Amino acid sequence: MKLSIIGTGNVGLVTGACFSAQGHEVRCADIDAEKVDRLQRLEFHSEEPGLTDLVARNVEAGRLSFTTDTPAAVAGSEVVILCVETPQGEDGKPDLERIRAAAQTIAENIKGFTLIVVKSTVPVGTTETLRKLISACTEEPFTIACNPEFLKAGSAVEDFREPDRVVAGCDDERSFELLRELYQDFTGSGPLLKVDTRTAELIKYASNAMLACRISFMNSLAGLCEQLGADAGELARGVGLDSRIGPGALAASPGYGGSCLPKDIRALIDTLKEHGLDARLFEAIDSVNESQKASHIERLRSFLGDLRDRRIAVLGLSFKAGSADTANSAAVRLIGQLIEEGAEVAAWDPAAMENMRRVFPDIEYSRDPYEASRGASAIVILTEWDSLRKLDFQTLGGLVSNKLVLDGRGLFDPEVLLALGFSYSAVGRPPTLLEPGCPENAVDSRDSES
Ligand SMILES: NC(=O)c1ccc[n+]([C@@H]2O[C@H](COP(=O)([O-])OP(=O)(O)OC[C@H]3O[C@@H](n4cnc5c(N)ncnc54)[C@H](O)[C@@H]3O)[C@@H](O)[C@H]2O)c1
Repeated sequence: MKLSIIGTGNVGLVTGACFSAQGHEVRCADIDAEKVDRLQRLEFHSEEPGLTDLVARNVEAGRLSFTTDTPAAVAGSEVVILCVETPQGEDGKPDLERIRAAAQTIAENIKGFTLIVVKSTVPVGTTETLRKLISACTEEPFTIACNPEFLKAGSAVEDFREPDRVVAGCDDERSFELLRELYQDFTGSGPLLKVDTRTAELIKYASNAMLACRISFMNSLAGLCEQLGADAGELARGVGLDSRIGPGALAASPGYGGSCLPKDIRALIDTLKEHGLDARLFEAIDSVNESQKASHIERLRSFLGDLRDRRIAVLGLSFKAGSADTANSAAVRLIGQLIEEGAEVAAWDPAAMENMRRVFPDIEYSRDPYEASRGASAIVILTEWDSLRKLDFQTLGGLVSNKLVLDGRGLFDPEVLLALGFSYSAVGRPPTLLEPGCPENAVDSRDSES
């Protein structure tokens, strides 16, 4: 088929690359000329495993191309897939300006029968609204479907190729048959679920809300584990082995972030309220998460007291491993608080430093975790990168000014760190201190010298 993808961000690029690899002729359009230029020249790198190569192979094979000329891309396509962003607006509601603008361009340029697919995450009823907007502007025959995307940052290509399910939100048989044809190579592992467009839109929000709920649920118990001497990791295993519950999204963490979960749960709250329904559960999920992200500064204070002029190494800046996205990450919150308190921040991440630099241009960005930790009063770990799992604490012990590790991901064996003289406090585990039970004993060496 001849496809065009409107919006070549994370979702659009993966979608375009994966469909082109199946032999479809795909044109990816974007209004960001710089992005398109980089893609055309294959001068881009994605953190997504396999994506950079997949794009290059299909561009070279002549099946995948990039353009800023959205009208031309649309005009030559049998299927047009909308992948533009739907960010949270200033009023807290999803901002649908970009998707409306893209729909307008589609309406003005489709030629002959076209299937329009809404892949962006949109509030319930948006696909219908877009249908009306497009039919008001064109006499050309078209149909519209909602096909939400569920890929995860860090495993996007694999998730696209082997989805748990493909949701085909269709209000007519023709759209469903076209979607079935489009996805025939990708529905071996999970079903193609035929639902109406409204249900499809809601499935996306409900799925993200369920993930967020599980994370906030476990984070609510993580503090209890710390106080009672239980282990949140083992707790998650024990709970997740129940086949009615399953193991996913149960890890105690520094709080969820990224460009999707926080905005989607707020959009769902907004939709519930708009319909006069009870949104308390979802408000609680959001509020627990905000508290979790805000709690790392308190943890630091409980060990170090006043943070002014203390050097703090923040290792892991993205909202999760495998992604360079720092949006709503625990690190953004913590670094903002540390700056307010007058601390000196040394930050490191294997992928996300450029993005963080746009938020905090004036902190120190270190070459590696060891440089960041030199002279630090505490090392705080917030992202579960493999490179951080392999930290050499023997070396770090010789660099820091105070042997204290706060671990938002529970990556390390407390006994090993304790043996190396580190006090260790991980989310969801009781702290292991040099003198147990007494956080104040983890005192900065500057204090003991004075
Ligand atoms: N990123 C994810 O992991 C993920 C997963 C599932 C669903 N989603 C949803 O998918 C949608 C896209 O997300 P994303 O992360 O790819 O966004 P993104 O911000 O990375 O990319 C969107 C792209 O659309 C382009 N664009 C905006 N208006 C345009 C227009 N009129 N014509 C052409 N291009 C236009 C932008 O320049 C940008 O490059 C959002 O609704 C998001 O919530 C994202």
